[in-house]
Amino acid sequence: MKIKAEWILPDLKEAKKRTKNPIERVDTFVIPENARFIGQNKKYYISTYGCQANERDSETLAGILDALGFTQSQSPEDVDVILINTCAIRQNAEEKVLGEIGNFKRLYRTNEDLVIGVCGCMNQEDTFVRTLLQKYPQVRLLFGTHNLQDLPEMLYECMFEKKKVVRIYSKEGEVYENLPVKRFGKHKAWVNIMYGCDKFCTYCIVPYTRGKQRSRTMDQVLAEVRELKEEGYKEITLLGQNVNAYGKDIDESYDFATLLDEVAKIGIPRIRFTTSHPWDFSDEMIEMIRKHDNVMPFVHLPLQSGDSEILRRMGRRYSAEDYKVLFDKINSIPNISISTDVIVGFPNESDEAFQNTLDMMHYCKFDNAFTFIFSARPGTPAAKMEDPINMDTKYNRLHELNRIWNKYALEKNQAYEGRTVTVMVDGASKNNKDVYAGYTDTQKLVNFRGKDCQPGDFVEVYIEKGKTFSLDGIQCDIMKEAE
Ligand code: SAH
Ligand code: SF4
Ligand code: F3S
Repeated sequence: MKIKAEWILPDLKEAKKRTKNPIERVDTFVIPENARFIGQNKKYYISTYGCQANERDSETLAGILDALGFTQSQSPEDVDVILINTCAIRQNAEEKVLGEIGNFKRLYRTNEDLVIGVCGCMNQEDTFVRTLLQKYPQVRLLFGTHNLQDLPEMLYECMFEKKKVVRIYSKEGEVYENLPVKRFGKHKAWVNIMYGCDKFCTYCIVPYTRGKQRSRTMDQVLAEVRELKEEGYKEITLLGQNVNAYGKDIDESYDFATLLDEVAKIGIPRIRFTTSHPWDFSDEMIEMIRKHDNVMPFVHLPLQSGDSEILRRMGRRYSAEDYKVLFDKINSIPNISISTDVIVGFPNESDEAFQNTLDMMHYCKFDNAFTFIFSARPGTPAAKMEDPINMDTKYNRLHELNRIWNKYALEKNQAYEGRTVTVMVDGASKNNKDVYAGYTDTQKLVNFRGKDCQPGDFVEVYIEKGKTFSLDGIQCDIMKEAE
C-alpha cells in the first residue's frame, strides 16, 4: 500500500508535545459552499465506542451530518455514510472495531458509493491507521479527534471526488465552539467543560489521543447549560478527563468548584460530573456537593491501585494513604455514593501490592467499580516496563477483585430495601411496558413497576430488593392504589 503525499497520518511524538502556546479558540463553523446539500436524500449511521467524550463527539458528528441534509439511521443497512467513532483505551477495543469494519465489507459490495469512515481515539495511533490502510481498503475516510469540524469538506472529497481521505492531526488542539450538535438524549445531556489531558498517567493513551488540557471558558459552558435548561433537559453531566483541574490552563482564578456553583444556580434538576482525579479534588468541591440539592451525591473517584508503589509507577501522584483521607472526606457527605476504576496486573504488580488493592476495596466498600486488566498501550511508558506476571494470575486477580466489590455493592444496595427514593425515568422496558428503568440521585439503576411514566419524569419508588447491579421497586402511586 502506497502512502499518498496528501494524506496526514498520526505521529505519537508530536502528540506527546506540550508547549506554553496559548490555546486557539474558534467560534465559527461554516459549511463550504460545495458541501451544502450533499446529504439530501441520503442516510448515515454512527457507531460509537469508548467514553462519554466520544459519545458527545458523535453528537457533534450527527449535528454536522444533519446540517448537510443527511438523515440518521439506527441501522447500517442501506445507508450512504457509516462513521465508526473508536476508543483506544485498551487493546480489546481495537479487536471489536476491526470486527465491525469487517462486517461492513458486505454492505460495500452492494453499494460501491458507500462511505465507511473511521474516526476517534484509535485513529490517533499510527499502527492502527496503517492496519486500516493495508487491510481494510473499504474504509475511505479516516480522521481524528482534532478535526470533526472538517467533516463537510472531507465527505465532499470522498463522495464527489471519489478520493480516499486520510487527515489525522497530532497536535495539542484547539477549542471549537458552536459546532452543530444533535443530542441523542431527550432529558439527559453531556456538556464538555474541557478537552484533552496533561496528567500522562504512565499506562494511559488519552493524553496522546486527545491532546493538551483545554478548558472551555466559564461563559461558554454556562451559556450551553442555560440553553439546555430552556430546552427542558433534566440532567446534565459535565465532562472532562479530570474535571477537578478545570480552568487551570486558563488562569488561576478559575476552578471547578466555582463552575459547579454557577452551573447549579442555573437550576437544572440534576447535575453530575465525571471524571474526578483524586489529585486535585478540593474541599470547595465537597462543599458544593453538600450545598446544592441539584448537584448529585455521587462521585466517581478512580483508585487504579491501592498500593502506593504501583500508584507512584502509574504516575498518579497520590499515595494509598492520600486516597483514604480524600475518600473519608467525600464519604462524609450525607447520602453519598462513590464508584471507582481499578487496574489489576499493572507491570510487575506483586501479590502484596494486589493485596493492598483488595484491602483498599474492603476499606472503601464502593457502590460500584469498573475493573480492568492492564493493557499495554504502545508508546506509553508502562508498555515498556518489565512485566513477569502471567496472564492467568491477572485474570485470577480480576476475578477476586470483582468478587469483593460485588459483595459490598450488594450490601450497599440491600440497604435501600424498604426505602422510598426519587427516580428519574429513562423509559419503559422493551418487553413489558409496565416496567420502567431509571436512576436515583446516587446513580443507582432502578427497575420498577409503574404506570404512565414518561422519560424524564421524577417519580417516587419504593425499593423492594437490592441486587448487585440494580434495585427493584414499585412506584409509590400504584402501591397506594393497590391498598
Ligand atoms: N480520566 C479518567 C480515566 C479515563 S480512562 C481518570 O483519570 O480517572 C477510564 C479508565 O480506564 C481508567 O480510570 C483506567 O482504570 C482504565 N484504563 C486506562 N488505561 C488503561 C490501560 N492501559 N489498561 C487498562 N485499563 C486502563
Ligand atoms: Fe488517562 Fe490519567 Fe489523563 Fe485519566 S488522568 S485520562 S487516566 S492520563
Ligand atoms: Fe477511549 Fe478516547 Fe475516551 S481512548 S476512553 S474514547 S478519550
